[in-house]
Amino acid sequence: MGRGDGQISGPRHVAIIMDGNGRWARARGLPRAAGHRRGARVAHEIVEVASKAGVEALTLYAFSSENWRRPAHEVRLLLNLLRRTIKKELAALHANNVRMDFVGSRSRFPEGLIQEMQRSEAHTAANDGLRLNIAVDYGGRWDVVRQARELARQARSGTLDPDGIDESVFGAGLSLAHCSAPDLLIRTGGESRLSNFLLWEAAYSELYFTDVLWPDFHADTLHAAIDWFTRRERRFGNVAAGASHA
Ligand code: FPP
Repeated sequence: MGRGDGQISGPRHVAIIMDGNGRWARARGLPRAAGHRRGARVAHEIVEVASKAGVEALTLYAFSSENWRRPAHEVRLLLNLLRRTIKKELAALHANNVRMDFVGSRSRFPEGLIQEMQRSEAHTAANDGLRLNIAVDYGGRWDVVRQARELARQARSGTLDPDGIDESVFGAGLSLAHCSAPDLLIRTGGESRLSNFLLWEAAYSELYFTDVLWPDFHADTLHAAIDWFTRRERRFGNVAAGASHA
């Protein structure tokens, strides 16, 4: 089935809130770190599965603007894990033609992590396979406020007419402007909320909430979410096909 022909095909862009690492570890009497380590391995597997399933873009919420509120040792652990994972996975991701982008603020990260991010982005910039966006120190509100500030600056300097600001002008400066909006947004771990993820981009995403904890997520759980997606009728504010005569 083609894209844009009114038929539902698989999602082009999948976004995931990876939740439940801590609970997975606690249920096994393990430290939270073990849950996060396992979570990183699952992220690796899901990148592969998504790529094989024909997904064009995958956006993973790895560290939110609010995660700084966690105890300092856990923040340190998550940032270290992120740096080590990026370094370890770079060669395989590049070999699989994956293009990596990090979305979010980098200003508070240690220099070593920023360097790994830049290195991965530069190394994979010419790849044209799966676009892997990793959201770190990211918040949907942060992104919208940042763009509002930028447009206000341009208006003040006279390079932008405020009446010319529409959804497309606004959206063009957001962190995920290089991708289409996510078709399917998955949250693992049993909560049914967005937690400040992709507030602008998820306006018409299909939202899939599962009780499965992120470390237990695997190929079959992703395929179940994709199957569910293909059965959704996406109307984007329109009426159902065949209902316009009523
Ligand atoms: C939520 O579980 C998970 C996180 C805050 C971190 C996610 C990070 C990873 C999976 C590892 C790195 C990923 C990549 C892409 C390199 P939680 O701690 O909130 O779990 P809980 O709700 O059970 O406490």
